[in-house]
Amino acid sequence: MCCCIRGAITIEENTKECIWSNTELMLSEIIKRNSLSAEDIISVVFTATRDIDAAYPAVALRKMGITEASLICMQEMYVKGSLEMCIRVMVTVNTDKAQRDMEHVYLKGAVVLRPDLVNKKTEAVAIDGPAGSGKSTVAKLIAKELGYIYADTGAMYRAVGLYCINNNINYADNNAVESVLGNIDISLEHSDGMQKIYLNGQDVTEIIRTPEVADSASKVAAIGGVREMLVALQKRLAHENKVVMDGRDIGTNVIPDARVKIYLDANVNERAKRRCKELEEKGIAYNFDAIAADISKRDEYDKNRELNPLTVAEDAHVIDTSDMSIDEVKDTILKIIRG
Ligand code: DC
Repeated sequence: MCCCIRGAITIEENTKECIWSNTELMLSEIIKRNSLSAEDIISVVFTATRDIDAAYPAVALRKMGITEASLICMQEMYVKGSLEMCIRVMVTVNTDKAQRDMEHVYLKGAVVLRPDLVNKKTEAVAIDGPAGSGKSTVAKLIAKELGYIYADTGAMYRAVGLYCINNNINYADNNAVESVLGNIDISLEHSDGMQKIYLNGQDVTEIIRTPEVADSASKVAAIGGVREMLVALQKRLAHENKVVMDGRDIGTNVIPDARVKIYLDANVNERAKRRCKELEEKGIAYNFDAIAADISKRDEYDKNRELNPLTVAEDAHVIDTSDMSIDEVKDTILKIIRG
């Protein structure tokens, strides 16, 4: 039987690379979400808004090795106020499934085109990135603006690290940490775009902000049992509330169906400066070189661990915040969310 699948994606710039990489991303998602193989594709009709003319999107399919399907590209009519820089597809496939079971794929800014077709669970905004990239500051502002709750997942790993420090558990020893997880109760309170975190009933929101706790958090975050416990808590939080959630694996692992995924980055020097300012405001003593070295070490650890390492989700918007003010980052993200 033949069925039709709709897809759309917005692209960042009118270049061959951008057109082809986004087209490939959209088609790969259509194939993956509908459990298809390349041979199931009979034909694809592509349309592109008139601001896209650096390449034919269809070429991306040939590059993916899809050589049998019939392809055609067309320019869309221009409707005032409609979405810009957008590529749409209508894919005809051979399948045993019914048309109503087809999963349509709307990515990046194109999610606004058919919110009725986009999974209801995808209200969430996922913000990932390395330490000091500005995630938490920006996520709080975005949450406030949208009326969502702000969920800081790093704080949960920090609370586990703090428990280990307070109870003389060697946090580099997986077995030792996993054996005490049953004694750790983490609860959260959310109000006005802020999160309070309690470790066994005690408010630890502020005391988990030291470099020592940050180091312990990075270590315990590599332990399977810890991730299992905290990711379950995070998934529940994301599905029961409208959240802006920040961390390292939110877009890739905790909420892969998030409506919008953001990856914030910044160079190490800038990130160290921001951390020092934060510590200074809290009256905590610091040494710039030590903070910069600590950030690099944590980057290394968070990016190279085996379980859910820090990586960019393939459908994330990457923003380098090195030379941007908080307000600029906030406005850029809100623009993406609002399409
Ligand atoms: O964002 P942060 O500095 O508060 O995070 C503390 C540590 O927790 C960080 O080094 C990596 C880990 N973490 C993680 O592995 N996964 C997350 N979703 C959030 C944080």
